[in-house]
Amino acid sequence: MPPRPLDPRTVTLFRKRLGSWFRRAGRDLPWRRTRDPYRILISELMLQQTQVSRVVEFYGRFLRTFPTLERIAAAPARKVMESWEGLGYYARARNLHTLSRTVRDTHNGELPSDIASLRELPGVGAYTAGAVASFAFERRAALVDTNVARVIARVFAPRLNPKRSRDLSRIWTLAESLLPRTGKATWAHNQALMELGALVCTARIKRCGVCPVSTLCKSVE
Ligand code: ADE
Repeated sequence: MPPRPLDPRTVTLFRKRLGSWFRRAGRDLPWRRTRDPYRILISELMLQQTQVSRVVEFYGRFLRTFPTLERIAAAPARKVMESWEGLGYYARARNLHTLSRTVRDTHNGELPSDIASLRELPGVGAYTAGAVASFAFERRAALVDTNVARVIARVFAPRLNPKRSRDLSRIWTLAESLLPRTGKATWAHNQALMELGALVCTARIKRCGVCPVSTLCKSVE
């Protein structure tokens, strides 16, 4: 059965409440102060499997060592892996090195801004492509990681299980139907969804008492 479309008034309210909560409660994180595609990419690769507090410790140092994607492309893979030490999951660093050379050799050294080209890059999945498109290029692109999937499922479709791939693709469709009209507004909307999953609607605890969208939520306790 195809999922029922969301009520447009609910969607508008959801976006508004989420947005004003984020302006008030969103954390000031280093990658939220930049639109540099390279810096955004590095933060998103690091954040994929590593906690925010740990990424904050390593992010600045990594960027001092490799201030641009060209500098990564010019370095031996070994040096990039060394700078990744402490973050774990070294496949990310190896992919980043391959990506840097692909971008140098086939994109004139500039990260592309469209989802399809981003997806073709090594180590860039649907989530990372959405993150770079919306956070760096302010494109109207959805993004769904574990946190966002949990939030969207709890609020709008509690019967969906983000671990099932068919359900996850429905969650992506829901994420797309929640997007604001403009790419510019999409930046804050996506950051806010991630922030709600990190601070309020966590895997371990639902803090419904402080949740800005609890009155719209199908899982409120
Ligand atoms: N996890 C992945 N991307 C993030 C972001 N932009 N802010 C906070 N946590 C994140």
